[in-house]
Amino acid sequence: MNVLLAGATGTLGSVLIGHLLAAGHTVLGITRFAAGAERLATAGAVPVVADVMNRESLLTALDGMQAHAVVHQATAISGLPLFHRALYATDALRDHGTAHLIEAAELVGARRFVTQSFFLGYGYRDHGEELVTEESPFAEPGQGAFDPHMRSMRANEEQVFGAPGIEGISLRYGMFYGPEATTRKLMDMTRKRMLPVPDPAGTVSLIHIEDAASATVAALERGTPGRSYNIADDHPVRFDAYVKALAVAAGGPVPLKMPGWLLRATPYMFALMVRTRIRLSTERARRELGWTPRYPSYREGLANL
Ligand SMILES: NC(=O)c1ccc[n+]([C@@H]2O[C@H](COP(=O)([O-])OP(=O)(O)OC[C@H]3O[C@@H](n4cnc5c(N)ncnc54)[C@H](OP(=O)(O)O)[C@@H]3O)[C@@H](O)[C@H]2O)c1
Repeated sequence: MNVLLAGATGTLGSVLIGHLLAAGHTVLGITRFAAGAERLATAGAVPVVADVMNRESLLTALDGMQAHAVVHQATAISGLPLFHRALYATDALRDHGTAHLIEAAELVGARRFVTQSFFLGYGYRDHGEELVTEESPFAEPGQGAFDPHMRSMRANEEQVFGAPGIEGISLRYGMFYGPEATTRKLMDMTRKRMLPVPDPAGTVSLIHIEDAASATVAALERGTPGRSYNIADDHPVRFDAYVKALAVAAGGPVPLKMPGWLLRATPYMFALMVRTRIRLSTERARRELGWTPRYPSYREGLANL
């Protein structure tokens, strides 16, 4: 397939290019910058210079091109999102960016559309011990300061599933880790003892960046239109165990303990590291996509860094 990839220079996009090429696909990679275009050409993709937030720029840059599928991996999360405002640009990419990319899909003749979503669309709260499936309510309103993020996650999926002539698929990824910037930064912080272990600690589902990429190719090739898929490894982890494992992988000292309530000063991190307990079911992705993660838990994934 000819695949138009938005976010091709990002954390997941840059790994995904290798997986797509290895599976025999051709990649048209979108970037806003000349330097990004050079990196994409070196990686074996055809660069398309355009801003996804600028409808005219996007459609003009794609004029005359053809693709079978669009994969939307554009985000704007630079570093650790401490505060809600750090996510607003990503919210806009899930809302207006998705709308523009659906128009782009029509222009280039693409029928399939795989979009990136996030497992915490199920809500930054305690989901108990039960595995959360794709049938659980997703991106519901009434979540206070999280509402703008929920609204855009909902808009992202609704647009992709509702666009006429488009076979829309949404991937609700767990938290990325692996050889990528955020994991490296967290490891570096453990070396300096700047990343404490919260007490109490929340529970999250992780996904190694290589496994997120392999799941994306599987969804592109075999995903059922109109379906969302949880993409995570087999072992949800408590944040205190994860921070300790990052410190071991980094060769750093034992992390300090910190009362969880101290993180209230950074509300997004408090919700993520202390308040949320969620364990994702990936049974649907395994059954329908024939996908299994290469790294069943963060232990194997971090050992391999
Ligand atoms: N599930 C998760 O846990 C999850 C999900 C997303 C991100 N993250 C984390 O967030 C951090 C940042 O991720 P990242 O590196 O992918 O983000 P990033 O550095 O912001 O890159 C995102 C990609 O989106 C593209 N992009 C952003 N705005 C665009 C626009 N207006 N038009 C066209 N393209 C646009 C960028 O392209 P150009 O800059 O080349 O134009 C880039 O390819 C990572 O460490 C990652 O782990 C986590």
